[in-house]
Parts: sequence; structure tokens; C-alpha cells
Amino acid sequence: MKITVVGAGAVGATCADNIARKELCEELVLLDIKEGVAEGKAMDMMQTMTLLGFDTRITGSTNDYSKTAGSDVAVITSGIPRKPGMTREELIGINAGIVKTVTQNLLQHSPNVIIIVISNPMDTMTYLALKSSGVAKNRIIGMGGILDSSRFKYYLSTAMGCSPNDLQGVVVGGHGDTTMIPLTRLATYQGTPVAQHMDAEALKKVAADTMVGGATLTGLLGTSAWYAPGAAGAALVEAIVRDEKKLFPCCVSLEGEYGQQDICLGVPVVIGKNGWEKIVDYKLNEEEQAAFNKSADAVRNMNAVLATLGV
Ligand code: 2OP
Repeated sequence: MKITVVGAGAVGATCADNIARKELCEELVLLDIKEGVAEGKAMDMMQTMTLLGFDTRITGSTNDYSKTAGSDVAVITSGIPRKPGMTREELIGINAGIVKTVTQNLLQHSPNVIIIVISNPMDTMTYLALKSSGVAKNRIIGMGGILDSSRFKYYLSTAMGCSPNDLQGVVVGGHGDTTMIPLTRLATYQGTPVAQHMDAEALKKVAADTMVGGATLTGLLGTSAWYAPGAAGAALVEAIVRDEKKLFPCCVSLEGEYGQQDICLGVPVVIGKNGWEKIVDYKLNEEEQAAFNKSADAVRNMNAVLATLGV
């Protein structure tokens, strides 16, 4: 098994670190355009092998895609992250060209690769990767809902004073401050609706905090977060390479599912060796479906910007 992570910034390096520690592959390639950064981070990680006891070979490279040849899975984290006060959507002008080029370079050397997109604005970058590559839709997966759901469970657990591992909660829709939809009605605490354990106001606040979860971290850190995004990317890689058939909300191409088409948007999907293998219908109620449609409209408007950028 061979895995490539493109972009050795904080998210890419954290993702690679998680992949290596979990020994998800024999060979891991870390790539960056900045001279020496990927080589340096790969070497630094390799020097933790005897401390942490893992056995994954890591190759760092300055933009040499021939090193990625034959990858089974690739994670794209390239592009600029947002700064405090910026939305993910504001990154489109710079990141679109980068994501398109990276996708093409990856496919040139690994025609069968499954691609996970983390770069923002993620829903539009996933759509761009799909449309510009023409590969089967199940091989392009946007990482957003799995991260947002993890943040949702974090905020729920702090409000309820319980372990996040006793909670189930899913965020669907876009990966944007105003486009994501934490499904509070369906969130459970060991099988019981969370609404039984907290009042409606507190639950509303959890949903609101979740939606700006990334922005809150950007405000604190001065750049966007990396531990949870990196771990979320690695969790998707793990589900693919171990053929786990785990259910994660991910950004995938919709062809009528959830009432939408010609768009990539976050819905619950089964992840396994073929990439995303099945969309699961959560049977949204009227209010949730209306929010989902609104989210789709916003993402569609962002996708339309791609044409004006000429990518
Ligand atoms: C985040 O929400 C990086 O978009 C990512 O932190």
C-alpha cells in the first residue's frame, strides 16, 4: 500500500504523521512546493520511528510527482489556509488553480488513485477535482463532514459533561460557516436523543458553535486548525485501506440523492476500499431538507466562480 499526502503544511504533515503512526501503508510520500519542507518534515517524522514504534517508510519531496507513482490513496491539502476573519470561500481564487494542477499531476502517475480533498473551499475544490479529472465519482472524497461532526460531538460533550465517545452526531451540507448543518434531531447519547439531556437553547448553541468551529480556532491560532483536520483525513485513509465500510459524512458527488445533482456536498457515505461506496439516506425532515437545499445553493454559487477563474 502506498499513500501520498500533497502539501506539507500543518494539516498535511499532521495527516501524514497520523497515517505513519497507524502504519496504514508501507510507503508514504509527502510532497510540497516549498524547497526542502517535505524532505525535512519526512525526516523529522522518521526520527520518531524508534520512539513511537512504527514502521512506515516516509519519503519527502519538493514537487517531484514521479515519487508518488503507484499511490493507492492521495490526500490533497495544498493551497493557502484562511487567516482570522476570512471565510473558507475567500480562498477560491488561489486554491482552485493549485488543486486542479495537483489532481492532474497525481493522476498522471497514479491513474487508479483514490483522492481525498481537504483544501478549501472544500466542497468546490472537490467538485473541481471531480470535473477536471473525469475519474469515477466514488474515487473523489471531500473531507469536511467528518471533521465538523467531530467538532459537533466535542461541543455536545462539553455542554453535557459526558464523553464525546458516547455520542453520535452528524453534520451534513457544505463545509462552510453558514452552509454546514449539524443534525441535532438525530444526535444521540448512547442511543437516546441528546434533546432528552439538554434544553433546546443549549442544543442550539452547540449547533451554532459547531458551525463556526473552524473560525473559532482560526481566531485563536492566527491560521486554520490542523490536529483535527489532519486526524480526520487520516481516518478516511484508514477506512479505505482497511476496507472498513465505516459511515462518515463526506463531500461526494450527488446525482439526485438528497434532492440534489451536479454538486459535491456532505452526506453520510460508506467508506471502503473503493472510496465512497454508498450514500445512506437519513430521511431528513422538511426543515433539514430546506437547510440542505439552501446549503446546496450557496455551494453551487461558489462552484460557478470556477468558470470566471478559467479553471
Ligand atoms: C477546518 O475547518 C481546515 O477547513 C478546515 O479547520
